[in-house]
Amino acid sequence: MSRIAYVNGRYVRHRQATVHVEDRGYQFADGVYEVIAVRGGHLIDRGPHLDRLGRSLGELGIAWPMSRGALSVVLNQCVRRNRVDDGIVYLQMSRGVARRDHAIPANPVSSLVVTARNQTMAPEHFEAGIRVVTISDIRWKRCDIKSISLLPNVLAKQAAKDRGAFEAWQVDEEGFVTEGSSTNAWIVTPDGVLVTRHLGTSILSGITRLVFLDLARRHNITLVERSFSRDEALEASEAFLTSTTSCILPVVQIDDHVLRNGRPGPMTRRLRALYDEYIDGLRVGLVGARKR
Ligand code: PDD
Repeated sequence: MSRIAYVNGRYVRHRQATVHVEDRGYQFADGVYEVIAVRGGHLIDRGPHLDRLGRSLGELGIAWPMSRGALSVVLNQCVRRNRVDDGIVYLQMSRGVARRDHAIPANPVSSLVVTARNQTMAPEHFEAGIRVVTISDIRWKRCDIKSISLLPNVLAKQAAKDRGAFEAWQVDEEGFVTEGSSTNAWIVTPDGVLVTRHLGTSILSGITRLVFLDLARRHNITLVERSFSRDEALEASEAFLTSTTSCILPVVQIDDHVLRNGRPGPMTRRLRALYDEYIDGLRVGLVGARKR
């Protein structure tokens, strides 16, 4: 079966899917994106992802290329045509094609590209836990926008890989952890409080982060949204990261410092179990909605 991509109004073979050389996404990274998880053939948390997409577009003054309803149809078509059961949908919107000029063209027509693929997370990954390295955060001051301008994130992830780690935790000028290259960062303090950085312009408001905050609140887990430093993270009783593609992964080593003898902690395990229940509940709801 050949993979299918959606490009500006057409479903095309993935191999032949191309955009114009003067697409502003290609030339200026003038665009935004989303990654949505697919479980059992269903899009997970589509609503919050499209809300965040709308916010990113609004902050940059890029027009929706189509309505939310039409976009949902395209996303579902990409899932179906690529026979994605468990995986991801990637969507990217750019300000469109125009003669190269930094200034924003008059009446641009936004571009839309969607791809989808099967991708599962190996359970051993959770059990083994992962290592993170810390690096300085060299990104721009609007990390709340899910921009396709990802060069610092690419370099951060590569720095992690080069040092044999899974992720890089970026640290701001005051020594506080902002987030990973493509994940949100969390710790559990020695007295059992769940901590993740507050929202603002220094981090992306991760949809998985929001789900975990909600789960924690509903299960009376003490939590606080505030900055934490690299030093505090080294002293934490647990640490973990969250994202659409990684779900929740225990961090068992930060730089050269091993946490909890290198084993996932009880809070991380509990949250993982709550998340699995949440996904199962969503899937039951989605199947029910389809039957009705
Ligand atoms: N990354 N922080 C950054 C910088 C991210 O790029 C992401 C997502 C997250 C987590 O957000 P969410 O829970 O909504 O996935 C946090 C996606 C998965 C990516 O770039 O592939």
